[in-house]
Amino acid sequence: MAFLEVADIKTYYGNIQALKGVSLTVEEGECVTLIGSNGAGKSTTLRSISGLTPPRTGSIKLAGEEISLLPPQEIVGLGICQSPEGRKCFQRMTVRENLELGAYLRRDTSGISADLNRIFELFPRLDERQSQKAGTMSGGEQQMLAIGRALMGKPKVLLLDEPSMGISPVLTERIYETIEQINKDGMTILLVEQNANFALDVSNRAYVLETGKVSLSDSSENLRTNPEVQKAYLGT
Ligand SMILES: Nc1ncnc2c1ncn2[C@@H]1O[C@H](COP(=O)(O)OP(=O)(O)O)[C@@H](O)[C@H]1O
Ligand SMILES: [Mg+2]
Repeated sequence: MAFLEVADIKTYYGNIQALKGVSLTVEEGECVTLIGSNGAGKSTTLRSISGLTPPRTGSIKLAGEEISLLPPQEIVGLGICQSPEGRKCFQRMTVRENLELGAYLRRDTSGISADLNRIFELFPRLDERQSQKAGTMSGGEQQMLAIGRALMGKPKVLLLDEPSMGISPVLTERIYETIEQINKDGMTILLVEQNANFALDVSNRAYVLETGKVSLSDSSENLRTNPEVQKAYLGT
């Protein structure tokens, strides 16, 4: 039994079927990535897991427990926290307020402040900008904030939706170094990316998603040298 087990989920937007039976697993401590073109269903897969767009059929289990029918807040409570596509920081709130919001379900005050310090260690830029309004920060800084906010939920599984989207290469590199660090410290991560270069570097295993279905899955190392993957997702 895998820690996170997604089995044959089908997810719809009205009549539009976005996922046509997606299955994947993530073991405890792993970093797994899902790569695919725009519109392949990457965000929908993460949103299905976090309960924002629940699947119509199929199963999602965390540590053996079925979660696919639970409301999003309960799924967060069980330890699945998402950094959404497009970051979605609260623009008029400060960095610190955004981070504190990530802990809204927690009551362990000392744990919350320890995690806040840990996030400021991981992202010194957020530490420097604690009282700055999120909306006045750069895209890369807001991405750090979105990841930090998800970490403040004390996740057992961290879901990251395109952390490199719209961000300068330098900041992308820095963010990926931090993702690698978070994973080394023991965090289980499911990461989706259109730009596969960094994602395949930090992950153990990867799935390729094409029009709502998994078309390939292998170790990230093998996928990196797969000619079709190189052509379609690595720009080589
Ligand atoms: N809110 C929505 N309403 C209708 N269709 C949607 C909506 N969001 C996504 N889709 C469709 O679902 C499919 C998968 O989208 P998405 O999961 O966002 O892909 P990706 O994240 O891989 O770019 C696409 O065909 C997209 O047009
Ligand atoms: Mg997406």
